[in-house]
Amino acid sequence: MGAVTAPQGLENVVVARTALSAIDGVAGKLSYAGYSIHDLAERVSFEEVFYLLLNGDLPTPAQLTAFSTELAALRTLDAVDLATVYGIPSQGHGMDALRTLVSALVQRLPKFPFTTEGATQLGMIIAAKMPGLIAAWHRARSGLPPVPADLSFGHAENVLWMLHGERPTPAATQALNTYMVLLAEHSLNASTFAARVAISAHSTVGDGMVAAIATLRGALHGGANQEAMETFLAIGAPENAAAYVDGLIERHERLMGVGHRLYKVEDPRVRHLSGQVAALAAHGQGAQWQAVADAVAKVIATHPHFTKRQLSPNVEFYSAPLLYALGFPLDLFTCAFAMSRIAGWTAHIREQIIENRLIRPKAEYSGPEPRTVVPLTER
Ligand code: ACO
Repeated sequence: MGAVTAPQGLENVVVARTALSAIDGVAGKLSYAGYSIHDLAERVSFEEVFYLLLNGDLPTPAQLTAFSTELAALRTLDAVDLATVYGIPSQGHGMDALRTLVSALVQRLPKFPFTTEGATQLGMIIAAKMPGLIAAWHRARSGLPPVPADLSFGHAENVLWMLHGERPTPAATQALNTYMVLLAEHSLNASTFAARVAISAHSTVGDGMVAAIATLRGALHGGANQEAMETFLAIGAPENAAAYVDGLIERHERLMGVGHRLYKVEDPRVRHLSGQVAALAAHGQGAQWQAVADAVAKVIATHPHFTKRQLSPNVEFYSAPLLYALGFPLDLFTCAFAMSRIAGWTAHIREQIIENRLIRPKAEYSGPEPRTVVPLTER
């Protein structure tokens, strides 16, 4: 078969099959296993979505109780987990810490079989422990002791509990749960693809997770939530939004949290995130940054640079003020994304194991013509 030159960035190239989520970027639709994201967003828990992605169906009450209990039981950090947290550098970015902590966790666990069951087991352990590990690391660098997991809390509530050591308000729990549901899965995004590439080579499931975490961190992917918030902080007040955006375009820079490879209309997750940001603001959390984000959204809705290129706010745009209002430090924003996307990564790794063939594309050679080696003394 002759070589086919794929477009740069593999735009519109289908390279895998998935039963997990479907995206229609022209109609602005997203569904998980057939359920519209609009039905799921505020109505189900992160645990229900994780179960859905692993099992193909939403759980019954009994199935949910069993699954949530199993996941919660894995949360607790033992002495070895804490020794790892205290043993890694306290400097550096939260995603560096997360990558190292997950890698160390995988290293000390027994080797899981390269099967869908093995992937589920390890995915659940990492999903359960990741929030506590990163919260303990952040608290350690802030001179604070770790907060023991509370097994009676739902997953999202426990994330905030372990980070802050205070029981979150119902509004805060609802906002983070909605965020985690919306961020849990998104087909063949860069981090999920990285995980599938690693698994396709028969690397371990843990390797696939670490590859995904490393890829998620990129500013064009999951790292955009932190950069979007830094932009809003730099803008400072709604009345500065228009001038800031004009200046950014003049400097040929990108507005983070805007634009998407697939969505050419509004990203369907945006309205739910913006709704949660508004709900938090109504409870006195983050009203200033809601106002700035709304002002920027208004500017780009009519700004020719953005309208001409069909660039709208993406999932990171309102994730930024949401995570800020919930008290996440800026360099843990992308960790919050990883805590959610771990559900999708686990499910995609399972799919790759079931239908695997080594992912090994070709490159078109563009280097020098064949030539001979000149001996070192004659060069
Ligand atoms: N701000 C300003 N201009 C932009 C932006 C932006 N955020 N995004 C794209 N453009 C412009 C580009 O400059 C380019 O203009 P040109 O045609 O004049 O050269 C045009 O739109 C197309 O850009 P591409 O980079 O080719 O689009 P692509 O589909 O490859 O990029 C991406 C998608 C990477 C998400 C891009 O929109 C971007 O960089 N956004 C900012 C980062 C971001 O928010 N990433 C998170 C995405 S969601 C996620 O991964 C969870």
